[in-house]
Amino acid sequence: MKEGIGHQFQMETKYQREPYSPGAVEGQQKREKLKEKLVDKSWPLPPPDREDGWPLFKAINSRRSVREFRKKPVSLAALSQILWAAQGITLKAGDFSLRTAPSAGALYPIDIYVCAQAVETLNPGLYHFLPAAQALRMRYEGDFSQLLADAALNQDFLAEASLVLVLTAVFERTTWKYGARGFRYLYLDAGHIAQNAALAAVSLGLGSCPVAAFFDDEINALLGVNPARESAVYLLAVGWPR
Ligand SMILES: Cc1cc2nc3c(=O)[nH]c(=O)nc-3n(C[C@H](O)[C@H](O)[C@H](O)COP(=O)(O)O)c2cc1C
Repeated sequence: MKEGIGHQFQMETKYQREPYSPGAVEGQQKREKLKEKLVDKSWPLPPPDREDGWPLFKAINSRRSVREFRKKPVSLAALSQILWAAQGITLKAGDFSLRTAPSAGALYPIDIYVCAQAVETLNPGLYHFLPAAQALRMRYEGDFSQLLADAALNQDFLAEASLVLVLTAVFERTTWKYGARGFRYLYLDAGHIAQNAALAAVSLGLGSCPVAAFFDDEINALLGVNPARESAVYLLAVGWPR
């Protein structure tokens, strides 16, 4: 990618730990141990409900950031519904597969990863959401909840949630067309997606909290993405409110 002001903005607004602080070294060792093997196995998700559910205004009125969660797993159907609300395909129009949330130029630079911590029938691990297939691809198996919370400036409620959505931006998908201005659009897209997911969560009786305070490269290392081309931009913790 051609480096310009957009890329510089992205790099210079990262949160970073002191390089040799105990958290940095320990975290890196733990991440490497858990991620010895890339799994790369797909899991279909139950078909989402596209018609019913809570009235929209009730959901908007009820959404609140929730930071205290019960130890109760979320169903796979609920996760599927949230992911569909966030980035599901709702219309095929020529070469475009249009989604639930708007996107500048219909370029969809945001990907969603799921840190599944307590989801029925899903082994704990890091998954990548595939919108066209309404499926998850497992990348790494294991309990990443505490590492994720540590990487989010030690916000421990992330480890208590049943799952955390990690939104990443794949810069080139939008910068090939819009150049440095594309960096603005990434964050607008992410906001739409997170709000859709938050409203879907509340409609299912679940709570959520958006999180943008995190050590970018620690989250990127957990996901196994190359930060020069793709980076975490937003997290959403989801679970049963206490
Ligand atoms: C961009 C953004 C980043 C946020 N980051 C965090 C965060 O790191 N930790 C947290 O506990 N809440 C975070 N929040 C949640 C806000 O604190 C919350 O939305 C605000 O207090 C309003 O409360 P409400 O969401 O219940 O309406 C974030 C919200 C936004 C929009």
